[in-house]
Amino acid sequence: MPRVDRPGGGAGHTAQGEVRATCWTAAQDHPVPDDVARLLATGPEWFGQPDSNAEYIEAAQTKETWTVRDDGGSVVGVTLVDRHFPHVAEIHLTVVDRAAHGSGAGTAMLAAIEADAVRRGVRLLEVKTLGPSHPDSGYARTRHFYEKWGFLPLEETDLWGEATPCLIMVKPLAPAPSC
Ligand SMILES: CC(C)(COP(=O)(O)OP(=O)(O)OC[C@H]1O[C@@H](n2cnc3c(N)ncnc32)[C@H](O)[C@@H]1OP(=O)(O)O)[C@@H](O)C(=O)NCCC(=O)NCCS
Repeated sequence: MPRVDRPGGGAGHTAQGEVRATCWTAAQDHPVPDDVARLLATGPEWFGQPDSNAEYIEAAQTKETWTVRDDGGSVVGVTLVDRHFPHVAEIHLTVVDRAAHGSGAGTAMLAAIEADAVRRGVRLLEVKTLGPSHPDSGYARTRHFYEKWGFLPLEETDLWGEATPCLIMVKPLAPAPSC
């Protein structure tokens, strides 16, 4: 399975339950729906709709799964990937344990998925998230996270209904160098 290591040290839990890390390794993994359920529950500000959560947990049973695990093997972050066409990979869900937000786990998963995508000849990464016309401050940070990794806003749509503006973001990928 592909692995991407980030420079730095190891990962572990502090006495307060926060996860400290300067290095996460993200890799493709087997489905982990129980871990997805656990991680969604740590972030009710982002995942407060039981119906949506149930859909994510069901999707996690079959969709391509990438994880970050801590030194003890516990899942700290999960990303599910859709492949609509050979040239595109969509981030269907990405979630990091609330205690590990901001420690690089989300970036490690995007980096691993992108490196794998380039190897496969994928030309576009896609993600859908809550759009900027909604005032939610948590999702403003989520959009910043994607923009920092190079995603560009493409279009805000009412795909999810008028009360839930959907921002489609894409990141063009350079073709893998040929030798
Ligand atoms: C969005 C998410 C996957 C990012 O993963 P992460 O491991 O927390 O983020 P990283 O440490 O790799 O990256 C840090 C960057 O992301 C930003 N960020 C976005 N959301 C954040 C959050 N909830 N907590 C901390 N940093 C966050 C930080 O501001 C930082 O950028 P900066 O250094 O310019 O300030 C994770 O915070 C999360 O699960 N959030 C809630 C669920 C969510 O939004 N999922 C995506 C739905 S489309």
